[in-house]
Amino acid sequence: MLPAYKNYSTWSPAVRWFHWINVLSVTALILVGLMMLYSKEIGIVSIEARVGLKELHVSIGYIFATNFLIRLIFAFAGPASARFSAFIPGKSFMQSLQSYRASLKAGKPQQFIGHNPLGKLAVTALFTLLTVLAISGLIRAGTDIYYPPFGSTVASYIAEEGIDPASLIPYQSEGVNAEKMASLKTFKSPFGKIHLYTAYLLMFLVVIHVTAVVRAEVKEGDRLVSSMFSGKKTLSEKPQDK
Ligand code: HEM
Repeated sequence: MLPAYKNYSTWSPAVRWFHWINVLSVTALILVGLMMLYSKEIGIVSIEARVGLKELHVSIGYIFATNFLIRLIFAFAGPASARFSAFIPGKSFMQSLQSYRASLKAGKPQQFIGHNPLGKLAVTALFTLLTVLAISGLIRAGTDIYYPPFGSTVASYIAEEGIDPASLIPYQSEGVNAEKMASLKTFKSPFGKIHLYTAYLLMFLVVIHVTAVVRAEVKEGDRLVSSMFSGKKTLSEKPQDK
């Protein structure tokens, strides 16, 4: 007998818009970030070109950070499917994870309108890494090229007395107090390291996330990928989270 398919509404428009803007902006940030990291190897050597790459990365970073901030607001005050409670592992999480894994092993995967338990773990980890990247990126944007939101405070701190902080040029020492610049370097260095290693972790997690989503799409038959466009899932089993 053919399974009885039923349609369910899933991800709200806020979640879907966030998801695809996030995919595009994070992909662009990774590409430009890697160009910054290997700038010498790809022939970008002049200081102007390297600062230009940073400005491009930071400009895309603002799109990413604004989109992420809006998503976080929805996680506090949006529809049920957008809230933290829809993905942060809660009280009976371990039981639902075990039961989901057992259903995978048995070849009869449980179906969900929202995230399956492994998806919840992935989204929680992704949100954590994105938060670290947004904060460390904004700090480096201020301390490296004096960009908002912290740039004017940084420039006012390192400018020599009588020098207009707005006239300082990134990576040039004119008008800059050498001692204060040295202490700024000590302050900003760990944020650069945190930013870079978190970006590597994110790249690793994105590969796992995409692999898991494609596997679920092929093996579990719940149209996970198209649901992130349409906001509809077509399920053949009674969903576990209804
Ligand atoms: C998913 C988000 C992000 C990813 C994957 C990412 C990735 C990267 C990578 C791979 C680098 C190269 C690291 C290096 O050259 O040492 C980098 C550097 C940088 N990123 Fe991001 N980034 C993200 C978000 C942001 C945001 C939101 C901003 C600020 C608006 C930002 C600002 C910077 C700055 C200023 C640097 C230069 C730091 C340095 O020279 O050490 N990033 N990023």
